[in-house]
Amino acid sequence: MLQAYPDPMTSSSSVLLIPGDGVGAEVVPAAARVLAGLVPELHFDEAEAGWACFQRCGSALPAATLAAARKTGAVLFGATQSPSTEVPGYASPILALRRELDLYGNLRPARSLPGERPVFDLLIVRENSEGLYSGREHAIADGFVAERVITRTASMRIARLACEQALLHAARVGRPARLTVVHKANVLKKTDGLFRSACLEVAANYPTLQVGEMLVDTAAMWLAKDPGRFDVLVTTNLFGDILSDLAAGKAGGLGLAPSANIGGHGVALFEPVHGSAPDIAGKGIANPLGALRSSVMLLQYLGYEAAAQRLDAAIEYVLVHGPLPVDLGGQATTAQVAGAVLDMALRTV
Ligand code: NAI
Ligand code: MG
Repeated sequence: MLQAYPDPMTSSSSVLLIPGDGVGAEVVPAAARVLAGLVPELHFDEAEAGWACFQRCGSALPAATLAAARKTGAVLFGATQSPSTEVPGYASPILALRRELDLYGNLRPARSLPGERPVFDLLIVRENSEGLYSGREHAIADGFVAERVITRTASMRIARLACEQALLHAARVGRPARLTVVHKANVLKKTDGLFRSACLEVAANYPTLQVGEMLVDTAAMWLAKDPGRFDVLVTTNLFGDILSDLAAGKAGGLGLAPSANIGGHGVALFEPVHGSAPDIAGKGIANPLGALRSSVMLLQYLGYEAAAQRLDAAIEYVLVHGPLPVDLGGQATTAQVAGAVLDMALRTV
């Protein structure tokens, strides 16, 4: 049977919550209440990370948090706030978690809101470990250079993950499996040339898969104009980051977009795509549906498939019938939206 995750953790019912900063600390507790109501045997621990944590204890990702993530195996992460200027000693905790836990694959699904056109249901598989996120920036005479690292090993493994995901996606949506390799090999001949050829080489081992390729700028145009032409896309780190926010914008906004960071041995991290949203933090109005959709993916990872489907269906129901959060044109608070989702999910038990 096809697995939603290459390394599912079906023997555990523990979840580590890392709420983080801003609205992360609002949507994660809301999602945890829904998870606890839906699957009473789940056990929750909590750990710190982020800017407030850094200011308090001098570390944005304390060793205890990393150890707890390794031990627990399933992490629900909110968002952290990162300053745009360099702060000595501060590094983005989500990037560090991805690196330390070897979470090389970032799954970012996006689907059209119920009843909205164009209809689409796609998945962006983003390489999570290298590319322009290598962290290698150095000075030159008149500025700085950022190194965009693309290796054959990392390209092959993300390609394999994407091919598996394309088969799974096809089984779920009932269409032939299609994978689009997104790159900029016409300009980045060496780095994206390698990424492209590695993806095509791996995909050739999947005879039922229809494989296409597209330049990233064209992919952005088609995602904006007709996202329904895509099923699964695989791309490098920064392109995946940007294209997935574009897809999220087509799918109702950042407040709704979920993601999973996978590939690590015995550990996976689930997080809404959005950040700490300082403009609305503290008001109790953050949309919890991105965190709840991430919780659907977490439940699948833990093997609670029936509960995952009930939660997913309850989210769709609330999107149609309300109460809707402010970013979707409604007036409901974070707690009201999450409460309505839980009520609906429990009604379908
Ligand atoms: P953002 O995602 O925090 O906010 C962008 C826009 O979307 C804002 O208008 C915000 O109000 C809205 N939004 C985001 N989440 C929402 C939600 N749940 N409900 C309703 N509206 C929501 O991105 P921005 O403003 O670019 O970054 C703010 C901070 O977040 C920065 O410090 C950035 O570094 C950090 N960040 C952290 C991420 C992470 O921890 N994984 C990811 C992205 C940004
Ligand atoms: Mg992003």
